Amino acid sequence: MDRGKVISLCYLKENIFMIKLSNSNWMVYAISVFAALAGLLFGYDTGIISGAILFIKKDFALSAFQIEMVVSAVLLGALVGSGLSGRLTDRFGRRKVLVFTALTFITGSLATTFAPNLDWLIFGRIILGIAIGVGSFTAPLYLAEIAPQRIRGMLVSLNQLAITIGIVFSYLVNYYFSARGRWPWMLGLGVVPAAILLLGTIFLPESPRWMLLKGWEHKARAILQRIRGDENINREFDEIQQTVQMEKGTHRLLLAKWVRPILFISLGLSFFQQVTGINTIIYYAPTILQLAGFQQAGGAILATLGIGIINVLFTIISLPLIDRWGRRPLLLLGLTGMFISLAIMGIAFYYPGFAALRWIAVGSMVIYIASFAMSLGPIMWLIISEIFPLNIRGVGASLAISASWGFNMLVSLTFLTLIQLMGPSHTFWLYAFLCILGWLFVYFIVPETRGCSLEHIEQNLRLGLPSCELGVPINKSSNKKHNSFFSSLK
Ligand code: BGC
Repeated sequence: MDRGKVISLCYLKENIFMIKLSNSNWMVYAISVFAALAGLLFGYDTGIISGAILFIKKDFALSAFQIEMVVSAVLLGALVGSGLSGRLTDRFGRRKVLVFTALTFITGSLATTFAPNLDWLIFGRIILGIAIGVGSFTAPLYLAEIAPQRIRGMLVSLNQLAITIGIVFSYLVNYYFSARGRWPWMLGLGVVPAAILLLGTIFLPESPRWMLLKGWEHKARAILQRIRGDENINREFDEIQQTVQMEKGTHRLLLAKWVRPILFISLGLSFFQQVTGINTIIYYAPTILQLAGFQQAGGAILATLGIGIINVLFTIISLPLIDRWGRRPLLLLGLTGMFISLAIMGIAFYYPGFAALRWIAVGSMVIYIASFAMSLGPIMWLIISEIFPLNIRGVGASLAISASWGFNMLVSLTFLTLIQLMGPSHTFWLYAFLCILGWLFVYFIVPETRGCSLEHIEQNLRLGLPSCELGVPINKSSNKKHNSFFSSLK
């Protein structure tokens, strides 16, 4: 029998059922698809409220402030959840935390679906937010740690693809149930992918990198071998081992001087991903389109669906490019597109009587979302999951991601107020200006991590290379080390 095609359900070991595939990539892809379900739930549960709130508002007779509370309870939960998740994943491992994420998603969905009053609803939304926060951190981290280096960018970005699919899925569900006015169904459907995620976690192996960190060398090697199939894993395993032995890290390491560039890069990326305005479009697209002249809510919702689909399509286009062109070119290109579209939107809103305004608004939103989807969307998550040293990858990335939820909340809670205070054109110009700052940040600070193993990135960091050179392959960087060593002697 052709062994390459044999898929055999094999052994139960430390509560892990493993599907053994002799072709290693199959194994990695199967694992990744399950792990990325956390991203789908992230997209679904953040997107669904835009439609559900229209009916919840009537049923519970909510004030404007109460509406804001229902919408932003998720962001608050996500901020807390992602802040906690670093410690959780470092302590309990990546897989167990994914199981916890799935269970929390199920609890939160059920609590909101059967909420008898506003308090329950807000409570359920906070629980959902915690699941989103923990999942938004754990899934990309896990994916980065099990991915072979050559396709790491693509695999980690599957998570972003799943987020965008979840958003479209939520828009479709909104559209379907809005005619029937059944908001509990809208919220309750989130249980389905959450249950699939829970089932999937039974099959997921623990991250070999984390196992090594805990000192379980034999288990780590066995799992890495199972994931990589027939490949020789000696070199990869040695590299991980070396990194782990260099320093048994503590959370205080996060304050060490040599780690600061990484903190700066990751906080900067999460800042620019949010303050350049993505969620003004994701959460408020129908509102913007109505401001631009679409009278009918139906038309605005349909256009929003279109924007969600463009988001998915361009994320798919970016997946192979991230490892082929690299992270930096895509980020620079994307930020340029985002700047141009926001600037045009600002100009169009400056002349409100202009007949073509609504089409310019749609066109600019399409360019904006396509540019985001090819750049800051996937790449922020990717770089954050790559650049922290292994010992503090958990806490470091969780700090950056919870900051991102904080920035998200800031933008989502101020957007409508800014429009009232400064008008739409100045608001869009403000986001356009932030795109320019983001472009400069990427150009001067953000490293290219394509083709560089996570261990090499860490070694470069320890060698003290400037932040934008952290992804330089190690043989080139060790020459640089000599330079910087000698220059420091001068
Ligand atoms: C961002 C979210 C955003 C989504 C849109 C994610 O990368 O973190 O805030 O809603 O992309 O696709």
